[in-house]
Amino acid sequence: MDRQTLEETANAMVAPGRGILAMDESHPTCKRRFDSIGVESNEENRRAYRELLITAEGSSEHLSGYILFDETIRQRTAAGAAFPDHIAGNGSIPGIKVDKGTLDMPLHPGEKFTQGLDGLRDRLVEYRDLGAGFAKWRAVITIGDGLPSGACIEANMYSLALYASICQDAGVVPIVEPEVLMDGAHDIDACDAATRATLRALYEALAEQDVHLEGTVLKASMVLSGKDCPRRAPVAEVAERTVACLRNTVPAAVPGVVFLSGGQTAVQSTEHLNAMNAAGWNLPWRLSFSYGRALQEPALRAWDGDAANVASAQRQLALRARLNGAATLGQYRGETEAAA
Ligand code: 13P
Repeated sequence: MDRQTLEETANAMVAPGRGILAMDESHPTCKRRFDSIGVESNEENRRAYRELLITAEGSSEHLSGYILFDETIRQRTAAGAAFPDHIAGNGSIPGIKVDKGTLDMPLHPGEKFTQGLDGLRDRLVEYRDLGAGFAKWRAVITIGDGLPSGACIEANMYSLALYASICQDAGVVPIVEPEVLMDGAHDIDACDAATRATLRALYEALAEQDVHLEGTVLKASMVLSGKDCPRRAPVAEVAERTVACLRNTVPAAVPGVVFLSGGQTAVQSTEHLNAMNAAGWNLPWRLSFSYGRALQEPALRAWDGDAANVASAQRQLALRARLNGAATLGQYRGETEAAA
């Protein structure tokens, strides 16, 4: 394992003012997103949309990395550049989602288990040769009556740690992503407890597998009220609870934490990240973003499947990338939204 290269890549992924665009939707997820704007999810439409994202002027300076999907990392721009080459040419790092989605957890109704370890080493070598500098694996933790179970946390965190060790062995930085879902009527305390239990188990498993933490990035969910909870925790509380949770669970050796948006609106995601970075807390890791929906949603709507709308869709992506880049520095101002 080349620790220095892993560390350099991990640090570049969380460079000040920059974050990561998650554009690694699987075919079923991409179909859901396209259905919402009435566009058919075929290979050419997916390629055209992803080309729009990676070629949007004014965005790559705020985007350290782009997480691609197996189909996407093999696609080319209309001008003929392989997507990973185009991304690297703009000074960003191509990444790749390598998990194979979730299955229902055996014997544990309502919970999920992430698959994809079989053949992972060979896939990573191929992706690395295609230009990937980092990978992503997402585990899903559900909050509910008696959930999450210890079995779900253990099985998923063990798999995440094994995935991370295989990545580092192949010279690829692992993003470790244990997503605690927002779905449900639970309050912020329940989210806090589930997130702490999950992150403690994750870092124990990573230590057990001898993963070099300086060459990893954590992709975390924020500590929030459940989507259907009647009491919505305000921005300052989300920022305080999320940072307290991370301080209690994430070792200082980790260079950075990037958040997923997980169903928050684009503006909420930016406000929460900004509040954490504006508070002047002396944190051991950088806090940044790796949003999918919160970066893409306005661009997807503006595009609407019409080539004539590409430029306005790209302006929407560039705006969200810029505002979130500012939020990594605690310099986002809400009035920028109104002016947009
Ligand atoms: P969202 O920001 O839409 O939650 O997606 C981020 C992601 O990559 C989840 O794995």
